[in-house]
Amino acid sequence: MAILVTGGAGYIGSHTVIELVKKGYEVVIVDDYSNAKPEVLNRLKELTGKDVPFHEVNICHKEALREVFEQHDLDAVIHFAGYKAVGESVAQPLKYYSNNLNGTIVLMELMNEYNVKKIVFSSSATVYGMTNEAPFTEDMPLSTTNPYGTTKMFIEQFIQDQYVADNAWSAALLRYFNPIGAHESGRIGEDPNDIPNNLMPYITQVAVGKREKLSVFGSDYETHDGTGVRDYIHVLDLAKGHIKALEKVLASTGVEAYNLGTGKGYSVLDVVHAFETANNVEIPYELNDRRPGDIATSYADVSKAKNALGWEATYSVEDMCRDSWNWQKSNPNGYDD
Ligand code: UD1
Repeated sequence: MAILVTGGAGYIGSHTVIELVKKGYEVVIVDDYSNAKPEVLNRLKELTGKDVPFHEVNICHKEALREVFEQHDLDAVIHFAGYKAVGESVAQPLKYYSNNLNGTIVLMELMNEYNVKKIVFSSSATVYGMTNEAPFTEDMPLSTTNPYGTTKMFIEQFIQDQYVADNAWSAALLRYFNPIGAHESGRIGEDPNDIPNNLMPYITQVAVGKREKLSVFGSDYETHDGTGVRDYIHVLDLAKGHIKALEKVLASTGVEAYNLGTGKGYSVLDVVHAFETANNVEIPYELNDRRPGDIATSYADVSKAKNALGWEATYSVEDMCRDSWNWQKSNPNGYDD
């Protein structure tokens, strides 16, 4: 009985692997290191006391991925692998469609072939698009503003359609809000390639002196202080949500989407101030223009995950700021240190 984790060396994947091992699951990781570093495996061994089987495979390569299905007796898949930079997806849409969609098709074909029909998919709150109003509920109409988001929405549809074709399938589509934070050990965390696109890694790089100041994208939104409001969730809460979702798909059939968020919204400036207070550091910032494609306010209605999965976020925004900083300051250059 083993769980295949695609993208298991990445930020959310690596935290989820720790929770899986802690819960006694046998885990197999595949990752192509396109946005992860080999060092993460050493850290995972240190934190779990286990050598988790690892295969350096891009999931688009069917024969390489088939070897993984041949070698391990898999029961379910947690599917993280995919490109995730919004701006890059606008500039290079085909790269995103090719990798994210083909990779998932190959994966699902092998799942069918090997009779492994249970999947937890890493979706995103980005599928709620620009027209719905927060709090977002799972039954709202979906739309997207960029190719990255479109790949998430399409993959949700692939999985729905596959279930219609074969009712033996079982899936949880997890719509993440804004994952931040890191393992409390400070040994694993988010290590973005190049300049961070997302708020928290940018803040921590300012705090550690790698960037001069934060650029706040928009101060004229209809929010309490004019800056964008998001639902930040600790990556360890998110990881635990995956375990609950996995338990659910292992025990049932059907496809369900779940929001994984805290249900609370914090503005950019709220986060900056929480970070300063939690860590006693100063974050210089400048108010700038809005970033195209951003919405004013995004936060989750979390009742479905609570009722159906028995899962709820527990960490506060201060905890998230403390753990993000703990990771960054002990690894100023990420896994390259
Ligand atoms: C972004 C993606 C979303 C993706 C998620 C993954 C966009 C439009 N959306 O969400 O599809 O699923 O990342 O984590 O990119 N901000 C600044 N300065 C910065 C960076 C961000 O002010 O340097 C602001 C943003 O305008 C936003 C908030 O901080 O109000 C959060 O931004 P970010 O961390 O990039 O996440 P999202 O845009 O919500």
